[in-house]
Amino acid sequence: MPLSSRHLLGLQGVPKEDIQLILDTATTFREVLERPIKRVPTLQGKTIVNLFYENSTRTRISFELAEKRLSADSVNFAVSASSVSKGESFKDTMRNIEAMKVDMVVVRHSAAGAPLFLTKICDANVINAGDGIHEHPTQALLDMYSIREKLRKIEGLKVCIVGDISHSRVALSNIYGLKTMGADVSVCGPLTMIPRYIEELGVKVIHNIDEAIQENDVLNVLRIQLERKAREYFPSIREYAKYFGITEERLEKNGKDIVILHPGPINRGVELSSGVADGLNQIILKQVTNGVAVRMAVLYLLGTLN
Ligand code: CP
Repeated sequence: MPLSSRHLLGLQGVPKEDIQLILDTATTFREVLERPIKRVPTLQGKTIVNLFYENSTRTRISFELAEKRLSADSVNFAVSASSVSKGESFKDTMRNIEAMKVDMVVVRHSAAGAPLFLTKICDANVINAGDGIHEHPTQALLDMYSIREKLRKIEGLKVCIVGDISHSRVALSNIYGLKTMGADVSVCGPLTMIPRYIEELGVKVIHNIDEAIQENDVLNVLRIQLERKAREYFPSIREYAKYFGITEERLEKNGKDIVILHPGPINRGVELSSGVADGLNQIILKQVTNGVAVRMAVLYLLGTLN
């Protein structure tokens, strides 16, 4: 069965069958990444542009590698080196790029809704690589893939998302995806960083981090987004680390063999101590590896729909 949409704008409303198909297809591509020659001809002849209006390390490189592994022609657009600096609009930029005959667009933008806008003005398949504080669907897909790889299931697991929920596209995509796949989802963080509507999404709020560790199988720990004025929502970084930071002492005290994810980049000593960031509970670099396979799956499934 093909995917039910020709774009991936978010995980809100995406059917369970689609998520299952992406995760299962990613398993096939994960095996390709272990081969000496990590390349398949699947998207030969397709042209994909990576349109990044915001900085990125993992997502941009991961998409670029995924495109190369699928034998697509891949073009990178960095806003700082483009005619955007001369005042060219988002719409004109996209229409000019599309005039060069691109099949798919991977877009990261600080404005929520930018990927949706692209679907209205161009014919290419659009993949959201993070839009403002809205969604980051491929991050949530790779998180779910990594949880499933580690714990052999998603349904019935208790997963807590920790940190700045209000300003996190990773949190929202994880909530939609995990709920669809049957996980029991909670959030934990300073009250100032938990949106009032969160319980309407079927998500429990846990106020105490020790309780979150005790009650859950998985913690997905978010980065405190210092560039998005996160500091205004709690008194100091030191206080945040004291009340919500995951440390080895805290894990030991709770005696819990919990799985820890983090989307990166990590603020070491803030949301995770260095010991935890490099420790036995975390699967952070596995998430990064799996990200390439998951993005290959998304590109393949959308790219062969046309
Ligand atoms: N997880 C994530 O989106 O990281 P980047 O900002 O480096 O792409």
